[in-house]
Amino acid sequence: MNAITRTHTCGELSSKHLDQTVHLCGWVAKRRDLGGLTFITLRDRHGITQVVFDPEVTGKIPTGAETQERAHELRGEYVIRVEGRVRKRPAGQDNAKMATGEIELAATSLQILSTAKTPPFEILDEVDAAETLRLKYRYLDLRRPALQKNLVMRHRLLTAVRNYLDQNQFIEVETPILYKSTPEGARDYLVPSRVHPGHFYALPQSPQTLKQLLMIAGMDRYFQIARCFRDEDLRADRQPEFSQVDIETSFLDEESLYPLMEGMTAKIWKECLGITIPTPFPRMPYAEAMSRYGSDKPDTRFGLELVDVSDVFRASTFQVFSNALASGKGSVRVIRVPGAAEKFSRKDLDEVQAVGASYGAKGLLWLKVQAGGELQGPSAKFFTDAEKSAFAAKLGYQEGDLILGIAAEKNSVVFDALGTIRQNVGARLGLIPKDQFNFLWVTNFPLLQYNDEDGRYYASHHPFTSPRPEFFEDFIAGRNLAAIQASAYDLVLNGFEVAGGSLRIYRSDVQAAMFRTLGFTEEQAKAQFGFFLEALQYGTPPHGGIAFGVDRLAMLLCGTDAIRDVMAFPKTQKATCLMSESPSVVSDAQLEELSIALAVKK
Ligand code: AMO
Repeated sequence: MNAITRTHTCGELSSKHLDQTVHLCGWVAKRRDLGGLTFITLRDRHGITQVVFDPEVTGKIPTGAETQERAHELRGEYVIRVEGRVRKRPAGQDNAKMATGEIELAATSLQILSTAKTPPFEILDEVDAAETLRLKYRYLDLRRPALQKNLVMRHRLLTAVRNYLDQNQFIEVETPILYKSTPEGARDYLVPSRVHPGHFYALPQSPQTLKQLLMIAGMDRYFQIARCFRDEDLRADRQPEFSQVDIETSFLDEESLYPLMEGMTAKIWKECLGITIPTPFPRMPYAEAMSRYGSDKPDTRFGLELVDVSDVFRASTFQVFSNALASGKGSVRVIRVPGAAEKFSRKDLDEVQAVGASYGAKGLLWLKVQAGGELQGPSAKFFTDAEKSAFAAKLGYQEGDLILGIAAEKNSVVFDALGTIRQNVGARLGLIPKDQFNFLWVTNFPLLQYNDEDGRYYASHHPFTSPRPEFFEDFIAGRNLAAIQASAYDLVLNGFEVAGGSLRIYRSDVQAAMFRTLGFTEEQAKAQFGFFLEALQYGTPPHGGIAFGVDRLAMLLCGTDAIRDVMAFPKTQKATCLMSESPSVVSDAQLEELSIALAVKK
């Protein structure tokens, strides 16, 4: 029988191994024939090694001619095993970019373990094949060293997390995947029960109620690398199925949780990138993050902060401003982009306007500062002299600056549009430093958000988040609901929300008040959360926790802006797996067994 083992990996050999006889196994990345010699680049997940079939070497071996001949048969992605002697590369042929660049393997025998069809795209880091093709053949895509490095990084991240939490007395507990709906703001993925026709499990959007029940059970300091499932609109940093480092503790307040989590984050960065992250992390209340950056996950690596100029235009007759300010719920805000007036053509401004429009902004206010502080732009003529001087005093602009702004009747539109424009403009102008990691705790979130459309409150985080203690009385009495702040916090890194958590409600009367505020009738709350409300009555410790998005952390550690790059088998923007072609239809027999009749044709 043919041997199938190796003595070394393809990333391992160096001058230390000169003259040793070794066996390597791997995939043929490239073959070149040069003046009687055949060169193979052999790849495995550890690296690549140059293998040479040299008649000077094989000529001295009885089966050498056959080996030399067979080397010609090798094609890309064949799986082979080669025996050979490690030798120095000829002078001038070293490759400093390769870990094994000083040596080559002079083959003495060759086994072809598997042949391969021609792959639909070349397995190279700089691949230009369409992503759909790469996702269909994900197992080939994953042979690319760049993706392999990402998965190794993800493993290092999880190992650092497990070690850190273990050293800090946390224990890993697994919780069920077939469970009941827990509201985290998305739609549930449902699984029909065969045994109980018409009944469904919900895949957890997060193990939120389960980890709280573990606290009630006394399983203090829990963690889990938890799979979460959310049927929501997908984006570059969102997948329908993703992982969290899910954490819950008892008898800890916010001030004790922050350093513990900062320690974990610093450990991840040290172990994965060798970088020391300074702690403690800065903190910013939600209201400040919104007013300065237009976002609850601000990228603080660059300036271009928002300035509220509503007061300047309070008496304006310019309709764009007066409409925005009439209801009292809107504003006029701008960013000043120093020295950028000449860098933005009409086309650039149209593109920036389109960014704002995608968040509901009806127009873009733009002004270029001319010599002598004169403002040029379509709206400049509507400014009175008094407004001009108040505007200049507020912004302190100079000749050559560009001012971009949004006026809208809803602050949420102003913040979303201008916050995104700020990020867009920062990126266009190269103002965002790479290799810088700006961590930030965003705190003091509003507990509830009012939805004008259906006239009711929703939990900003989830319905188990506690109001800050100073708001308890108001909350139970249903007073000033919009002003109530939560004991909730997010950890933000370079404009991404990498973690979110809160202290929880541990009194059943407060939890019942929460469901009432969210518009649940007693029956509805009981049907959905009866088990949980009951559990709260059996001795609940004060508790709280947090969940880190593993995929987002991995993304930022790997320096990519696509979450798919750090997942082995990700789904498309439309939540499909192109490789397995799921979701897919199932047989009538399966449906019948589940007592399901389809309202759509297969
Ligand atoms: P939250 O919903 O904020 O909190 O989620 C925590 C973190 O999970 C990541 N995340 C995602 N990553 C990829 N794709 C998604 N669709 C996705 N959705 C969320 C983010 C986010 O910060 N149970 C609470 C946590 C708690 O209160 O302890 C929860 O799930 O990085």
